[in-house]
Amino acid sequence: MRLAGKVAIITGAASGLGRASATLFAEQGAAVVVADCNAAGAQETVTQIRDTGGRAEFIEIDVAVADDAAAMVAKAVACFGKLDVLFNNAGIAIRKPVADLDEDDWDRCIDINLKGVFLGSKYAIPEMMRGGGGSIINTASIYGVVAGRTRAAYSASKGGIVNLTRSMALDYASHNIRVNCICPGFVETPLLKKILGTKEEFQALVDMHPMGRLGRPIETAYAAVYLASDEAAFTTGIALPVDGGYTAG
Ligand SMILES: NC(=O)c1ccc[n+]([C@@H]2O[C@H](COP(=O)([O-])OP(=O)(O)OC[C@H]3O[C@@H](n4cnc5c(N)ncnc54)[C@H](O)[C@@H]3O)[C@@H](O)[C@H]2O)c1
Repeated sequence: MRLAGKVAIITGAASGLGRASATLFAEQGAAVVVADCNAAGAQETVTQIRDTGGRAEFIEIDVAVADDAAAMVAKAVACFGKLDVLFNNAGIAIRKPVADLDEDDWDRCIDINLKGVFLGSKYAIPEMMRGGGGSIINTASIYGVVAGRTRAAYSASKGGIVNLTRSMALDYASHNIRVNCICPGFVETPLLKKILGTKEEFQALVDMHPMGRLGRPIETAYAAVYLASDEAAFTTGIALPVDGGYTAG
């Protein structure tokens, strides 16, 4: 019960890394607000948590819309009385080099991946201050640290998250609000399956990870539990790779 008594919001928790984190957070004692634009998937995450005795509520939001971000924080406070943890995890992947990238695709990628982190944090921080502190965790990517071919908008958004994380860590350290991000390597999730082409392409991705496999959603979930917990009480402003060694070389 590493998160006993904590209240957490997890965005993008209808699927993939977010769902794995939501179920693990609940197992570890947190009450979880599952926030996602996919209502059916989010409801399924909530059902999974409740079926195993955990506490969870769902809210349908678009992380890129300010009113939705505010409503998500209000929901956590209305349902569970406070907010200790915000896990800004929702994201989309767009694979195009700059010359082929429509302006709309660029805007959508930056709005969801980067502005979504800004908005969620903007509304969560005052609530955390009222409660005496908190932990914000952002899902960046290895492509926040190194670049990937055909991932211009995605890499820009994730690089932005890494430095936004550091900036918020500095601004709110004195308020006992810790801000960290996780930089996963390739993890087998619905998002990855959507963007992967051939078997050869899959194997090429595997080969880029020195550990010789892709990640599993539960492996980033454990990193998030650590950063959310009091075990990480002196850890702020970090970009934690969970990447099987991808960025070590
Ligand atoms: N899967 C990987 O290999 C990998 C690697 C590095 C980083 N990441 C990052 O991990 C995070 C989760 O990705 P995943 O792999 O679990 O993908 P996923 O597609 O399985 O899950 C993403 C979730 O975000 C939600 N979402 C998308 N746009 C939204 C919006 N505007 N408002 C609210 N919710 C929205 C989706 O409905 C979905 O439930 C993303 O930020 C992604 O960039 C994934």
